[in-house]
Amino acid sequence: MTAREWQGHAATARRRCTLRALRGSLTLGTLMVVGGTVGCRPRQEVPPATSPPTSPATSPTGFDVSSDSSPQTLADGQQIFRFETFGDEQFWTDTARMHEVVQKSVSPTTALSVGLKVDAEAIPPDVAQAIKNGQVDLNSPATTVTLLKLNAVVGLKGTVNTVNGKDTLVRLGITCALCHSTVDNSFSKGIGQRKDGWPNPDLNVGAIVALSPAVTPAQKAVYTSWGPGKYDPRFNIDGKSTPLVLPPAYGLAQVRNETFTAEGPISYWNAYVAVTQMHGHGNFSDPRLGIDIRQSPDMVGPKLAALRAYQHSLPAPRPPAGSFDVAAAERGRAVFGQSCARCHVGATGTDNNAGTLHPPAETGMDGAYAARTAGKAYRTTPLRGLWQHPPYFHDGSAATLEAVVDHYNRVRNLNLTPEQKADLVQFLKSL
Ligand code: HEC
Ligand code: HEC
Repeated sequence: MTAREWQGHAATARRRCTLRALRGSLTLGTLMVVGGTVGCRPRQEVPPATSPPTSPATSPTGFDVSSDSSPQTLADGQQIFRFETFGDEQFWTDTARMHEVVQKSVSPTTALSVGLKVDAEAIPPDVAQAIKNGQVDLNSPATTVTLLKLNAVVGLKGTVNTVNGKDTLVRLGITCALCHSTVDNSFSKGIGQRKDGWPNPDLNVGAIVALSPAVTPAQKAVYTSWGPGKYDPRFNIDGKSTPLVLPPAYGLAQVRNETFTAEGPISYWNAYVAVTQMHGHGNFSDPRLGIDIRQSPDMVGPKLAALRAYQHSLPAPRPPAGSFDVAAAERGRAVFGQSCARCHVGATGTDNNAGTLHPPAETGMDGAYAARTAGKAYRTTPLRGLWQHPPYFHDGSAATLEAVVDHYNRVRNLNLTPEQKADLVQFLKSL
C-alpha cells in the first residue's frame, strides 16, 4: 500500500477528532496531542494489515511505503533529510518565536555551545577565509543570521529578508538533520563536512527549546534536565520525561522496525516525528497511542518514500583503521556468540525482524520509557557503528562499551573473565 493509498484509507476511517492544539501550554509544541484521552472517540477501524507476516500483529501498517532507490530518489531524499521543514515554521516561528530568539541573542558561539553544527561546504571561500583570519564576529547574533541565510546551520532552515536595509530572520524551521546529522570538524570544532545519519551527541535540544518565550517555567525545568545528545519524543504527548539518546539513522536498510521500542517501520516513525515533534504540516495517526492528527495540505506523506530510501542508503560507518585489536575482536566474537547472539542475531544484530520484543527486566533495563509506548518492551537494538555513537542503551545508561559488557555480565550472570570482557569489547568496537 503506498502512502497515498494509505492516506486515502485513513481519510475514510477518520474519527471526529481534530488536533487539540494550542492549549496555551507549550511543549516541543504547544501542540498537546492528547487525542485518545480528551474528546476523541477511539477509532473502531484500523488500517488493513498489509505488513509482512513476521512483524508484530499490532504494528501499524501503510507507512512502509514502497520506493525506488534510483539516484534521483536518493538525491530527493537527501534534500528532504537535510533541508525539509514540512512547514514546521508554523510552530517554530509562529508559536515558539524562535526566529526572534535567534535574531536577538544567539551568536555562533552560543549556537555551537548548545551543539548546533555548521556546514563548511555552504560557506563561500571568502567568508571562510575571513572566519580563519578572525575578521568575523562569532559573538554577534547577526553572524548567525548570515549563516542561516547561507543555509549553513545543520538542521535549521531560515528565511532571511531585508527589513529596513538589514538582514532579518523572518521564518525559522527545523529538519531531520538537526538531531541525526553532525559534521566532521574539518574546519574547526563544530564546523565541517556533513555526516548524515550520525547522531549529534552535542546537541542540547532541551536547552534550545527552553529559549522559547512560549515555554512555561515548569516545561523549562524539564527541557533543561535532558542534557546534550538526548530528547524525549513523547514529552509533549503524555507529559512524562524519560529522555532517549539520539540514535543513528544509518545502517537500517535491513531493519524491519524502527525505534528502541519497535513502534513500526521507518516511515511510521518518520511521520510521527515530522508531525508530532517537528510540528510539520501533515497527517499522523496511531490508534494505539490515541493520536490522530490531520492537517491539509499534507506536506509529510508524499515525502516519506524518498526519505526512507535515503536513510536506507546510509551505511553504518566502518571503525577507523587501528581503532580496535583485530585478534582480540576475533576472540570476542566467540564470547558474543555464546552470550549475546541469542538476541543480537544475524547481520542486523536484532531478533526484532522476527517480531521479538524484550521486557525491560530481561536485559536489566529501566522500564519507565517502555511503559509509555505501544509495546511496553524494548527491541534488541541493531548493532551498527557502535564505535561511533556512545552512550549506549535507550537512556544512555552505559557510557562506554566496557560499561555495556559490565552491565550484561552483572544482570545476566555471565561470569565472564576479565579477558573475555576485554575481548568482547574489542569485538563490539569492530562492528
Ligand atoms: C528533536 C530531535 C529529533 C528530530 C528533529 C528527529 N529525530 Fe529521529 N529520533 C530522535 C530520537 C530521540 C529517536 C529515538 C526514538 C526511539 O527510538 O524511540 C529518534 C529515532 C529515529 C529513528 C530510529 C532509529 C532506530 O534505531 O530505529 C530514525 C530512523 C529517525 N529518528 C529518523 C528521523 C527522521 C527521518 C527525521 C525527520 C523527519 C527525524 N528522525 C527527526 C530524535 C529526533
Ligand atoms: C535477552 C536479549 C539480549 C541479550 C542476551 C543481549 N542483548 Fe544487547 N540488547 C538487547 C535489548 C533489548 C537492547 C535494548 C536495550 C535498551 O536500550 O533499553 C540491547 C542493547 C544493546 C546495546 C546497545 C546498542 C546501542 O546502540 O545503544 C549493546 C551495545 C548490546 N545490547 C550489546 C550486547 C552484548 C555485548 C550482549 C552479550 C553480553 C548482549 N547485548 C546481550 C537484548 C539483548
